[in-house]
Amino acid sequence: AAAEKGGYAHFMLKEIMETPKVLADTINPRVENGEIHLEHEAELDELFRSVKKVMIVACGSASHVGYAAKYVIERLARVPTEVDIASEYRYRDPIVEPGDLVLVISQSGETADTLAALRLAKSRGAKVACIVNVVGSSIARESDYVLYTWAGPEIAVATTKAFSAQLAVIDLFAVRLALVRGAIDEAHARELTAAIAALPEQAKALLAREEECKRLAARYQNAKDLFFIGRGLDYAIAMEGSLKLKEISYIHSEVYAAGELKHGTISLVVDDTPVIAIATQSHLIEKTVSNIKEVKARHAKVLAVCREGALDGDVADDIFTIPDGEDLFVPSLDVIPLQLLSYYIAVLRGCDVDKPRNLAKSVTVE
Ligand code: AGP
Repeated sequence: AAAEKGGYAHFMLKEIMETPKVLADTINPRVENGEIHLEHEAELDELFRSVKKVMIVACGSASHVGYAAKYVIERLARVPTEVDIASEYRYRDPIVEPGDLVLVISQSGETADTLAALRLAKSRGAKVACIVNVVGSSIARESDYVLYTWAGPEIAVATTKAFSAQLAVIDLFAVRLALVRGAIDEAHARELTAAIAALPEQAKALLAREEECKRLAARYQNAKDLFFIGRGLDYAIAMEGSLKLKEISYIHSEVYAAGELKHGTISLVVDDTPVIAIATQSHLIEKTVSNIKEVKARHAKVLAVCREGALDGDVADDIFTIPDGEDLFVPSLDVIPLQLLSYYIAVLRGCDVDKPRNLAKSVTVE
């Protein structure tokens, strides 16, 4: 079993460490001479030109990729994008027009609710594209267009490398969609493509800072309740950070759009309540900093994940910095310290990291 884990203590850690390779395997085959080429290019390009709306359907972590996708697709391609949790979508009589694009995201390709949502969308005339990891899975077989994440088998119940790969496919998808629709020009597309192609190396540099995450884990391991806050793409990643921590460490955690805190939950922030603030989006940094100050005023203990030099040293108690780069693609990077933090906190608390209680890797029954 030790060999299966490549010498790591757990599959989860092994899989986090595989992120740079997985990103390269997912990105590189789709980039040629600085241009993005997706599978089913002719058909997808045609659909991209005419599509009026993108609807993303997924469960759990894959839905968090969906929330990130909404920001990236709308910002770059200016196509309205909705995100739905599959178990909600399938029972709410969704409005689907023929020609709509439904984008289904799933690691396993076997999640029951996601598969049912796909079937419903198809029966109503939508074109279905999927981002799936398991080759030949049900969702892959039943979709019109398959965009695989090349993450390899993922064993740990908590998804890590597949999540990062899903984000990378979204980035490629959004840039291609934007270019084909004329929402961005070729020069801009090239710039963005280069930024995506740089992600594997940047991920490698972050993983080399594993010890920093371990030290932070020791400082936050005894939390009873914890908050994650962020705005925009940082909010989407905060959702994933919060789920990851809950799943494997059993620490109760809440995620809030940073601007929403004062509409209720800030009443729960008291002396030493840990708050993890994701603050990587440069156009939102001032706003998030003011939210950090609000919780600091209630004596919260704040860990900020932000760009180098973005925050004054005294704004947060702890800072983990992310290298500079395109804001739209930073989720693939800032999720890494959050995954490592959850992992080490769960290890320090003696939890069964790879097989958390009550959870299955793939939820194939409703
Ligand atoms: C992630 O850590 C979870 N275990 C879970 O939320 C998962 O993402 C969800 O069940 C969806 O699974 P899928 O990607 O295989 O469809």
